[in-house]
Amino acid sequence: MYLSRFLSIHALWVTVSSLMQPYPLVWGHYDVCKTQIYTEEGKVWDYMACQPESTDMTKYLKVKLDPPDITCGDPPESFCAMGNPYMCNNECDASTPELAHPPELMFDFEGRHPSTFWQSATWKEYPKPLQVNITLSWSKTIELTDNIVITFESGRPDQMILEKSLDYGRTWQPYQYYATDCLDAFHMDPKSVKDLSQHTVLEIICTEEYSTGYTTNSKIIHFEIKDRFAFFAGPRLRNMASLYGQLDTTKKLRDFFTVTDLRIRLLRPAVGEIFVDELHLARYFYAISDIKVRGRCKCNLHATVCVYDNSKLTCECEHNTTGPDCGKCKKNYQGRPWSPGSYLPIPKGTANTCIPSISSIGNCECFGHSNRCSYIDLLNTVICVSCKHNTRGQHCELCRLGYFRNASAQLDDENVCIECYCNPLGSIHDRCNGSGFCECKTGTTGPKCDECLPGNSWHYGCQPNVCDNELLHCQNGGTCHNNVRCLCPAAYTGILCEKLRCEEAGSCGSDSGQAAPPQGSPALLLLTALLGTASPWAF
Ligand SMILES: *[C@@H]1O[C@H](CO)[C@@H](O)[C@H](O)[C@H]1NC(C)=O
Ligand SMILES: *[C@@H]1O[C@H](CO)[C@@H](O)[C@H](O)[C@H]1NC(C)=O
Ligand SMILES: *[C@@H]1O[C@H](CO)[C@@H](O)[C@H](O)[C@H]1NC(C)=O
Ligand SMILES: *[C@@H]1O[C@H](CO)[C@@H](O)[C@H](O)[C@H]1NC(C)=O
Repeated sequence: MYLSRFLSIHALWVTVSSLMQPYPLVWGHYDVCKTQIYTEEGKVWDYMACQPESTDMTKYLKVKLDPPDITCGDPPESFCAMGNPYMCNNECDASTPELAHPPELMFDFEGRHPSTFWQSATWKEYPKPLQVNITLSWSKTIELTDNIVITFESGRPDQMILEKSLDYGRTWQPYQYYATDCLDAFHMDPKSVKDLSQHTVLEIICTEEYSTGYTTNSKIIHFEIKDRFAFFAGPRLRNMASLYGQLDTTKKLRDFFTVTDLRIRLLRPAVGEIFVDELHLARYFYAISDIKVRGRCKCNLHATVCVYDNSKLTCECEHNTTGPDCGKCKKNYQGRPWSPGSYLPIPKGTANTCIPSISSIGNCECFGHSNRCSYIDLLNTVICVSCKHNTRGQHCELCRLGYFRNASAQLDDENVCIECYCNPLGSIHDRCNGSGFCECKTGTTGPKCDECLPGNSWHYGCQPNVCDNELLHCQNGGTCHNNVRCLCPAAYTGILCEKLRCEEAGSCGSDSGQAAPPQGSPALLLLTALLGTASPWAF
């Protein structure tokens, strides 16, 4: 039936889960909005829109008639047969069960013959109008999921208005007008739902489709929910995701299908001819054998179960929401404004779960490193503020830069973060990796970058050796001082004491003994320059 089509996107889940485990037979038999299913990739979560199942809502309503004494049979009266207006010896008698037609008979099981029906008194006060209001109340917002179908035992009324209320009967709006002549009855051009479109779907129309009097065999009046759904979901409602997408984003559309009460205003009974036959007024009355209303509790997509308890429908709210329609966040879960969940299951939609209020977050969420949280609207999340003990992150679950995780401490331990202690002269920055290793400058090594690689010596950090006892020997009797310079005898100079001081000064005598290199040669000047400035590694 229609129900299964409406829920078809969950069909797979329903099938799989009912095979997997026995579910309690409560209305809305999935109890959370996700479930584990087995696929080729193994066990995965399957998400579904969080709403109760569509069901027969007439089981949960209260009916009220206005005027209250309009039901026939008190006192007993006779009326004409439906099919034959000249056979007027049928009797309605409220005190005889077989001859009584109370309102309950509009909602009883209608599979047998003859049908059972509610019937009004006849139009004996003509020309005073014969009008009846039938009000159906749920004391709960419900969402219609299928056509409202009213089956008349009498002819279908010449004039009727279906109305709805969204505020438990305080205010009413027309849902649809029905008349044999819309222009005459309501000053409206006749239309049918098929004349509407996606853009005009919320228009309130007057239709002449269902008011052809009691000469035809058809006894049914529809309020067409499915045809309206089809503007979004396509013929046969194949693309429910598209309808759900629209419902998610368009409150007006959601509200259109939402009611707390319905009212059927019967304004003029079927006459079937142009003139009322004043000699046989017992021909004219209203009789309804069945009213179908299918829908579901409106739980704002925060509940999958709706219970009927003490004559009251109540959503069993999840996502830490509360209220009859799950329309607000629970106490202590007002960390951000309430909003409805999504028709489209995760990941396309979002559950819009209520989150703990800032003041109610205990130490646990910040692992004991903060007792203050803040809601970040942009990210739609709550973060810990001012994490202590050198922690950082949304839940103070990370170590501050310059600290690393103490592998032997729990996340809530005060000692969870250990300072990197990177040597400021030997490391590139003050951060270390997960095991405390710092990032070293060239020539430097060690976890904290406080040791020098061979060929380097510590001098405000590791510097390449200028002299040493292995490769870079000081010459002419010079000695290496701390690997950074040669201490030369008085007559010598140069990085490795390789030059005569007088050479430098240009004052060496010709008898100075040592074979002085020829001066002024460009090659030597270049060599001197190199020795004076470049690293010895250049050799
Ligand atoms: C039906 O309800 C309408 C709107 O409240 C009211 O104007 C009208 O008088 C009622 N009709 C009857 C028969 O009670
Ligand atoms: C609601 O709050 C309770 C208590 O903090 C938590 O255990 C639960 O997971 C929450 N439910 C959802 C759906 O977030
Ligand atoms: C790591 O945590 C353990 C357990 O709290 C603690 O005993 C230890 O001192 C911590 N290490 C450092 C370097 O802080
Ligand atoms: C940190 O760096 C050291 C040295 O490069 C490496 O041995 C160690 O595995 C690294 N630790 C982590 C957690 O990356």
